[in-house]
Amino acid sequence: MIDIENQLTLDERSRVDFVLALRKRWADTVYPALAEEYRSTGPAADDIDGAVERLHRLSLYPWYSHLERVQQKMLWKTVGEAVLGRAETLRRQLHDLPDHPKGDLRLAPETELPAWYTDYDIHIQPGSFHSDDLSAYVYELGARIVMLRDNDGYKFHRLFTETALPELPAASRVVDIGCGFGKSTRPLADRYPAAEVIGIDFAAPGLRLAHAEAEADGAAIHYVQGDGRATGLEAGSCDVVTGTMVLHEMPAEAVRETVAEAARLLKPGGTMSFLEFHPTGDAFRDATIHEHAERNNEPFFRDLFAADLPAVCAEAGLTGAGWTPFDERRDGVRPEGWGERREWHFPWAVLTATKPQN
Ligand SMILES: C[S@@+](CC[C@H](N)C(=O)[O-])C[C@H]1O[C@@H](n2cnc3c(N)ncnc32)[C@H](O)[C@@H]1O
Repeated sequence: MIDIENQLTLDERSRVDFVLALRKRWADTVYPALAEEYRSTGPAADDIDGAVERLHRLSLYPWYSHLERVQQKMLWKTVGEAVLGRAETLRRQLHDLPDHPKGDLRLAPETELPAWYTDYDIHIQPGSFHSDDLSAYVYELGARIVMLRDNDGYKFHRLFTETALPELPAASRVVDIGCGFGKSTRPLADRYPAAEVIGIDFAAPGLRLAHAEAEADGAAIHYVQGDGRATGLEAGSCDVVTGTMVLHEMPAEAVRETVAEAARLLKPGGTMSFLEFHPTGDAFRDATIHEHAERNNEPFFRDLFAADLPAVCAEAGLTGAGWTPFDERRDGVRPEGWGERREWHFPWAVLTATKPQN
C-alpha cells in the first residue's frame, strides 16, 4: 500500500513539517508559558470552571487558544490537499486486495448513524470521518501529526495492548469497538495471533482502509461496520472487549450503552478495557483539556470527564472497575500516576473491568 508520506513533494513536506513544528511549539513552549502566567497571577482555582474563568483573563490566552485552533485547521488543509492530489490512486488501492484474503470486511450500509455522530465534524476534520473513502486517508495522516509523530508505528496503541490487556488462550475472541482505520486493531492481532480479532466501527471509509492495509500486511482481522452499542455479536462470546479513544466521542447515554454491550459480550472472567482520558485533578490542566475538546469539536469530552464510569460498569454487572493512568512515553499503564510534565499532553487513562465468574 502507498504511504502518502513517502510520496510528498518538497512543498507538501514543508507544509506538513511546518504544522508539526507549530503544534510542538504550542505544546512545549506556549502552554508552559500560559501555565506560568496562571501560577504567577493568583491562587490555583479549586475546580475546572474556576480555572477556565481565570484562564480567560490571562494575557497569553488569546494567543494560546488561537494557535490551538488554527494549527488544527492548517493540519486538515495540508493533509487534505496531499490526499486529494492522489485521489485516484488512493481510492483504487482500497479495492486492490489479495486473491485469498486472511481477514474480511463486512459493510452494512443500512447502519444508522446517530445525529450525535453526524452533526459534528469531529476534530474539525472537514466532512468528518464517515463521509468519503478519502477521509480515512486524511484522518490517518492527520493523526500522525496530532500525536506529534510519537505514535508512529502505533506505538501508544501497542503499549496499551501490551501493558493493559491480559494473556489469553489461543482460541479467544477480541473485539475492538470504534476501531477507526485499524490503528488500535493491528496491535491486537499482533499480540493475539491465534485469536479471532474483530474491529467494529460506524465509518465505512475507515474500515475499508483498515481492511486493505491489514490484507496488504497479511494480518487476519475481521472488520465489521456496526454500532458499538449493539454489535450483533453473540452474548458471552468474547474474552476481551476493548476500544481506544472512542468513549469520549459519545454522549453519556451512548457510553452507558456501550459499556452494557461490552458486559453482554464478555465471557465470565473476560476483560473490558478502554484507553481514554481522565481528569488529572489539576484544575488548570483539566481546564485546558476541556477547552481543547471544545475547540476541536469534541462536544462530549466534558461528559466523559464528569462521568462516574466505574459506577456505570458496576451497573452493567462488571466488577473491579477502575481507572489507571497511562503514560504513552514509556511505561503504558502507570498506577503511580502520570508524574510531572511541563508540556501540554493528553491525560491518557485506562478504564478496566471484569465480567464476574457467574
Ligand atoms: C478517535 S477514533 C479512534 C479510532 C481508533 N480506535 C484509534 O485509536 O485510532 C473514534 C472512532 O470511533 C468510531 N465510533 C464512535 N462511536 C461509535 C459507535 N457507537 N460504534 C462504532 N464506532 C463508533 C468513530 O467512527 C471513529 O472511527
